[in-house]
Amino acid sequence: MRAAVARPAMPRLIFVEPGGARHQIDAPCGLSVMQVARMHDLGIEGTCDGSLACATCHVIVAPEDALRLGAASAEEEDMLDLAIGVRPTSRLGCQIVLTEELDGLTVHLPDGW
Ligand code: FES
Repeated sequence: MRAAVARPAMPRLIFVEPGGARHQIDAPCGLSVMQVARMHDLGIEGTCDGSLACATCHVIVAPEDALRLGAASAEEEDMLDLAIGVRPTSRLGCQIVLTEELDGLTVHLPDGW
């Protein structure tokens, strides 16, 4: 009988700056990527505090991780249209809520960071 593999109590997020610097941060489930970035002064503004009204929480999810997230809502897609430097895997950080299943999620901070 195999022992159960323990899941992390705090999923790890990896933020990558445009220049390539990486920040690995373990954060509690329930926080958004935007909230974690702000707590660690990573340059994400989140001006509207997660109410889908600003797009200043724009992040680019690593392509290999994009399928781990649910589809963006129509409101998120509309707001992403206003973001600068949007890529196919762009998302709003305020709409990505950490769960144990997202352990290891890598997000790139957009240029202009
Ligand atoms: S914080 Fe404003 S849309 Fe995400």
